[in-house]
Amino acid sequence: MVAKTVPVDPFDLIVFGGTGDLARRKLLPALFHRFMARQVPDDALIIGAARGKMTRKAFQAHTIDALEEFVAEDERPKDKVKTFVAMVDYATVDAMSDLGWDALVKRLKGREDRPRAFYLSVAPRFFGPICDRLGANDLVTAATRLVVEKPLGRDYESALALNAQLAASFDESQLYRIDHYLGKETVQNLMALRFGNALFEPLWNSKFIDHVQITAAESVAVGSRGGYYDQNGAMRDMVQNHMMQLLCLTAMEPPSHFDPGAVRDEKLKVLKALSPITETDVEDHVIRGQYAAGRKGPGYVEEAGDPNSRTECFIALKVEIDNWRWAGAPFYLRTGKRLAARHTEIAIRFKDAPHSIFDSGVAGMKGNALVITLQPNEGIQLRLNIKDPGPGGMRIVSAPLDMSFAKDLGREVRMPDAYERLLMDVIRGDQTLFMRGDEVEAAWAWIDPIIKACEGGKATPVSYAQGSDGPMESHILLHQDGRRWRDIE
Ligand code: NDP
Ligand code: BG6
Repeated sequence: MVAKTVPVDPFDLIVFGGTGDLARRKLLPALFHRFMARQVPDDALIIGAARGKMTRKAFQAHTIDALEEFVAEDERPKDKVKTFVAMVDYATVDAMSDLGWDALVKRLKGREDRPRAFYLSVAPRFFGPICDRLGANDLVTAATRLVVEKPLGRDYESALALNAQLAASFDESQLYRIDHYLGKETVQNLMALRFGNALFEPLWNSKFIDHVQITAAESVAVGSRGGYYDQNGAMRDMVQNHMMQLLCLTAMEPPSHFDPGAVRDEKLKVLKALSPITETDVEDHVIRGQYAAGRKGPGYVEEAGDPNSRTECFIALKVEIDNWRWAGAPFYLRTGKRLAARHTEIAIRFKDAPHSIFDSGVAGMKGNALVITLQPNEGIQLRLNIKDPGPGGMRIVSAPLDMSFAKDLGREVRMPDAYERLLMDVIRGDQTLFMRGDEVEAAWAWIDPIIKACEGGKATPVSYAQGSDGPMESHILLHQDGRRWRDIE
């Protein structure tokens, strides 16, 4: 069964950096999948823009290559690929000079009524110059959207400066700041689960929830990205954006509507309620790590190309939210490279039953856990205490009620890539799953002092074994609160 899709209006999408890695691996394949689902109409126009001199034909060939590499063979019939690439064009444009702008203006002339999106798939230093030139060349119509990707600043000050730069040419209602985690199917399901079922909401607070664990574990190393990664670390690369967004969606109050204003207002309130982690308490709340050299390959510092690197590729944090709902129920976050498995989940650990009537079963009776798995196998699991089947008395065991989205919806569902949903939302003009400027700033405002304390010598990175679930110190962080991490598997 094919999932129901509503076609978007014919649109013009101009991807600056159209020949780059992000466009090749994610954007072109995502657009093709949406075209296959009949969501992208045949008269859409997709223009790749970059400095390189390239004919339209050469860029179409580049697009076919990208589809052959990143779309499964049985999902790309030849005739469909042909129709799709007929929508693709190329423009030689330099963000930093006048090269190519007149031709781009000409290409888009007479199309002012169509939704128009400029996707800045280029380094952030080009954002300002591109915005200025879009404005100066009158390319910003009423139906124009601007899409930007991380990194959205590297601290609070630079995030403010970037927002000001964007605001000089665009209204906030035209800005689409992508955090691709918000486009993941299960992240959207978290909202459906919380706000589409009356079952959980009464329990969704520190009276019934002991704590929340958010894990984004990767088995890959930093590899060839080592030099770049070392300038950022897990805090900037994963926590400031993806992990903060997951925390916000888990912790926020029910919005009045599923619309951009209401959802983003509630996320912002969570960010503003985060208990500050000051220089004096960083070491009680933050554990940073680097993988050691091992059987699978070199250690982090070798890959970073700096034996003295103090950048973390693993981080665990204890985060407290100062509001009525969450007082007393901490959120533990951890993310890292070269861990035991690729596994991302949000685990809500409910409190133990206040009293056990089963004398012999006490040891087996753990608090329930609701586990929302984002990847690799999207699904929701609720761990319940049940009677161990068979004779031999009332023994209690914990067993899962399991729902795998891929299997249990009674049809084969291809989990769409996050960019598919996000790109279509851009065209539809729906900002709900995009970050507002004040959210980005609030996340940096909370993160900045932690990064500064770490850069000033606190929470020195400790070593962990490749393929493990992080350094021992991260286990101690929970152990000292009488809790333990779930296994990464
Ligand atoms: P690449 O280095 O692979 O590509 C950069 C692109 O920008 C090329 O098409 C390049 O073409 C173009 N470009 C460079 N200079 C100019 C210029 N002066 N004017 C116009 N175009 C220019 O980068 P990525 O695709 O990996 O990343 C792009 C952005 O997206 C970065 O900010 C990155 O941090 C972000 N990002 C990337 C992700 C990924 O998975 N790759 C994930 C999340 C974010 P040419 O040299 O011909 O001009
Ligand atoms: C990116 C980070 O934003 O997210 C990468 O820069 C990380 O370091 C990636 O590997 C993880 O994304 P996903 O979708 O594979 O979990």
